[in-house]
This record gives sequence, structure tokens and C-alpha cells, in this order.
Amino acid sequence: MRRALLYIVGLAIVVVLTGWFITAPAPISAAALPDHEPDLANGEIMFYAGGCASCHSAPDAKDDDKLKLGGGRELKTDFGTFRVPNISPDPETGMGGWSTIDFVNAVMHGVSPGGAHYYPAFPFSSYIRMKVEDVIDMKAFIDTLPPVSNQVADHDLGFPFNIRRGVGVWKLLHLSPEPALTIADASEEVLRGQYLAEGPGHCGECHTPRDAMGGLKLAQWFAGAPDPEGPGINPNITPHADGLAWSESEIVDTFITGFTPDFDTLGGTMSLVQWNLSRLPETDVRAIAAYLKAVPALPDAVVAKAADEVQDY
Ligand code: HEC
Ligand code: HEC
Repeated sequence: MRRALLYIVGLAIVVVLTGWFITAPAPISAAALPDHEPDLANGEIMFYAGGCASCHSAPDAKDDDKLKLGGGRELKTDFGTFRVPNISPDPETGMGGWSTIDFVNAVMHGVSPGGAHYYPAFPFSSYIRMKVEDVIDMKAFIDTLPPVSNQVADHDLGFPFNIRRGVGVWKLLHLSPEPALTIADASEEVLRGQYLAEGPGHCGECHTPRDAMGGLKLAQWFAGAPDPEGPGINPNITPHADGLAWSESEIVDTFITGFTPDFDTLGGTMSLVQWNLSRLPETDVRAIAAYLKAVPALPDAVVAKAADEVQDY
């Protein structure tokens, strides 16, 4: 009896220690960074492709004020409220003083300079698909933006989501630098679009449904998903009858102007995405449109709610 008890206690200790070990944050070391001279023009492209301003600018920021990355937006989710931090180059309350490796580990691996996990509300699980050189360039560009002094309050999350270590389990299941799709005979243009959309653009974070463990269902890539912040639907954008009926050039025009072929405007969170897309070189917008035409056509993953159930933005 006593032996059995000791055995169970011993086993429990092993399970806990193993769990603690495998959920440990895994940052990379500065020595692993490539020798790379930052390219500001490319950094600017990566910044807009990455949509950083959509979350990190002040809640009501318009136009140039969106380049003030003082944070403060609240992201309301089922787990609680996330408050987006200040990543402006302010030395006290922002990211001033961060080294390149601090930034690379945060953006690509979801690990803080202090060695803690970030929550995947910060879409590093898409940014991990980026080339590290592009991330280094992006930091150089962000360093040129105005510093903003703004101390952002902590997140407001319920138990057990307030325990950052738990994110380690999520990362084990979902964090991978592999592309989401394998597209046969993809042209250079489609590959560029795939890189921009699956990596920095993090389109899948909104347009792909998630499984019970919070991971994106790759088999339903872009087939539409519930909006985590509201009652609406993030639409199916695959080339299926349920999805996007627009031609490639109509997609390009919509991303550049914000006006859709059906004389509507891109609304909701997509208007923030469009603000970023309209600042990319046109060749990159075309590449994203070409990729959208090359993804597998899939029926809607979720059924849209009736119009009167959907809240207007
Ligand atoms: C969907 C919203 C969203 C987008 C888009 C986003 N972030 Fe964040 N970011 C967050 C949230 C939320 C956190 C806080 C995560 C945490 O505390 O675990 C965060 C944290 C960070 C941090 C850590 C800051 C600190 O003080 O520790 C950095 C650096 C960062 N983001 C950079 C970026 C960059 C660069 C981009 C664009 C490539 C970006 N983020 C895009 C939501 C976002
Ligand atoms: C933060 C969530 C979010 C992200 C990230 C996002 N989208 Fe969207 N997208 C939406 C929402 C919400 C709509 C619906 C907008 C509306 O109703 O006007 C939408 C609409 C669209 C539409 C129009 C669909 C239609 O039938 O009207 C296209 C095309 C699109 N998104 C493509 C993209 C691409 C490409 C990316 C990545 C570069 C992307 N989205 C990233 C939320 C997002």
C-alpha cells in the first residue's frame, strides 16, 4: 500500500517535472542570428505586411498616428482581455533598448526578453514563418518611428489562462515554421504571396477556423471562422462558390482602395488590414491576390449568422 502510494507520488513528480521542462520557453541565442545589415526599405514593407500598427497603435489612431506604436488597444477574447503593449522605441515604457535578438525571439518565437512565453493573441505563430533577415529589417524600421511614453496595464485573464507557462503546451502543439499549404507548381509570384500571407500577413489567424485546442485547422485553410472579438464571421476567402468570387485584379483593387467590386467597403478588422495592404508595393499586393486564387477552394467552415444577429462595426 505504502509502496503503491510512493510510486504514484514519484510518478506525479516525474510528470510535473517533464511538463515543466517541455513547456519551457525556447529562445534562440544571439550567435544564431545571421550577419545582416538592416535594409530599412524592406523593413517598412515587412512592417506593413505584418500589420503591427493594427494592434499596437492607440485605439482611435488614424493615418500617421498609426505609426505611434504606444499600445493600449484591448483585445476581448473568451479567455479574458488582452491589452496590447507599447512597442514604440520609448526607452522606459516601450521597446527602446531592446536588442535584435530580443526582438527576433519575441516576434518569431513568442518569448520575452525576460524568458517568458507570450500569448498567441500576438500572432507570432504566423511570424515564425518569416525570414529572420526580414524580421531584423522590420526592427530597424520600427526603431525609426516616434517614441511614445505610455505604460500599458496588464492583461485581465481568468485562471488558468493567466499562467504564461501554460502557453508552452499550446506552442508544442501549434508552433511550426512550416508553410500552411503545399501548392503544386506554384509560380514565383504565388510563392511570394504565400510568404506574405502565411507569414507576416497572418491572414489565417482570422480566416481559418480553430480546433478545440486553439490551433488553426490547416485542412480548412481560409474557409472562414467566427470572429473571436465579436458575433460576426471572418469570411471564407478561398476561390469557392461560398468564398471569394472576385477576379485577381478585383482583389488587387479592393486591397489598394478599400472598395469592393460590389460597391461596398472592407469593414471591421479587415479595414485595418486593408490600410496596411494599401501601403505595400503593388507587386506584393498582386502576389497576395495570386496566392488567394491558388489556395484550395473550400465550402464555408462556419455558417454565417442572420443579418440581425450580426453587429455592425
Ligand atoms: C492581433 C494583434 C497583434 C498584432 C497584429 C501584433 N501584435 Fe504584437 N502583441 C500583441 C499582444 C496582445 C501582445 C502581448 C502578448 C503577451 O503579453 O503575451 C503583443 C506583444 C508584442 C511584443 C512584446 C512587447 C513587450 O513589451 O514585451 C512585441 C515586440 C510585439 N508584440 C511586436 C509586434 C510586431 C513587430 C508586430 C507586427 C509584425 C506585431 N507585434 C503585431 C498583439 C499583436
Ligand atoms: C484581424 C482579422 C483579419 C485578418 C488578420 C485578415 N482579415 Fe480579411 N477579413 C476580416 C474580416 C472581419 C472581413 C470581413 C470584412 C467585411 O465584412 O467588410 C475580412 C474580409 C476579407 C476579404 C473580403 C471577403 C469578402 O467576401 O468580402 C478578403 C479578400 C480578405 N479579408 C483577405 C484577407 C487577406 C489576404 C488577409 C491577410 C493579408 C486578411 N484578410 C487578414 C478579418 C481579417
